[in-house]
Amino acid sequence: MAKKWSTRLIHSDAQVPAGFRSLNTPVYRASTVLFPNAAAVSDEWDQYEYGYTYGLYGTPTVLELAARIGELEGGYRTLLTPGGQSAISLINLALLKAGDHILVPHSIYGPNRLFAGHMLRQFGVEATFYDPLFGEEMRALMRPNTRLVWTESPGSVTMEVQDIPTICRVAHDAGAMVVLDNTWAAGVLFDAFAHEVDISMQALTKYVGGHSDLLLGSVTAKEKQVFDRLGAAQQLLGLAVSPDDASLALRGLKTMAVRLKTIEQSALELARWLAAREEVELVLHPALESCPGHAFWKRDFTGSAGVFSVVFRREFSKEQVLGFVDALQLFEIGYSWAGVTSLAVAYYFCGNKNRPDYGHRIVRLNIGLEDADDLREDLASALAGMHS
Ligand SMILES: Cc1ncc(COP(=O)(O)O)c(C=O)c1O
Repeated sequence: MAKKWSTRLIHSDAQVPAGFRSLNTPVYRASTVLFPNAAAVSDEWDQYEYGYTYGLYGTPTVLELAARIGELEGGYRTLLTPGGQSAISLINLALLKAGDHILVPHSIYGPNRLFAGHMLRQFGVEATFYDPLFGEEMRALMRPNTRLVWTESPGSVTMEVQDIPTICRVAHDAGAMVVLDNTWAAGVLFDAFAHEVDISMQALTKYVGGHSDLLLGSVTAKEKQVFDRLGAAQQLLGLAVSPDDASLALRGLKTMAVRLKTIEQSALELARWLAAREEVELVLHPALESCPGHAFWKRDFTGSAGVFSVVFRREFSKEQVLGFVDALQLFEIGYSWAGVTSLAVAYYFCGNKNRPDYGHRIVRLNIGLEDADDLREDLASALAGMHS
């Protein structure tokens, strides 16, 4: 058929050589996915079962990343979401209905707690917040309508390591599923499914991405039936993932082992050094005995990551703690973590009967890939400034 140039812009006969091979997964961008004939058209979300139908459910770039996370975590299959928080909301919205009850540790990532306490409540789901160090004590909290037990180990900022096997046993006895936010362990330093967790989610934004330039989440289910419920909900919620971000995350995965190793060594060295400083009351690093739940870390984890918190002694005012953060030269100030740049953020935990009384004295550090000696020097000079 003879084509005008404007048609050729869309339907070209140009040829390129075949046989190109690269070490990298190509970036397939698409909303429309082509069908071979009119009868083959379908809007099924499960691309494994039905083949590719629509970009929303993942192009090969997105599915490649999902499959690799699933391979590392060892579950049935993995879904990706546009960020860690949307992985959290997907799990809740897919698996809960009005009249259900869930258990959430006090130490969970803040927006996860807010989702449970505010949004789920609007939909008639009740959340009870529990002490992250509970094990058998969880039995008393289980109700006939308890569907999900959320866990995050270690917890955000306060870093409590949880007794996941015991929580799973108690939850399963009561007919509830256990979800783990496995972000700190990057899905590799803690084997969620070997410890009986039902769903493991991660903010791939952190160690998988690894360079502070993308937002992605993953949800890995142990059972097909749970994966199917999550996938069906993802279709209705329209949680599309960018193939460009997936491609960056695939690149991040290749260097994750060496990044984690160096970060682990530097973080441990700095945590131990900080623990010996007179200004510091407590270092909340899972590999240190001073961290609540350290024995569970020792029993269940195969390594440690680069995020931990420091609690200053009571005599230091809020201004002095903020002054310490501001005085750091190499540590930047900002949310998120697990990138190559060291970060410091001061938090506020007011004491109540359910939370440790750290007040304004707690600072979370993310250790990056800078030289550990330089980071120690930076911390030393900021600590010295607290006395002036
Ligand atoms: C433990 C944990 N889970 C989930 C999230 C949410 O991830 P995202 O920022 O990709 O939405 C974060 C982000 O800080 C986190 O620290």
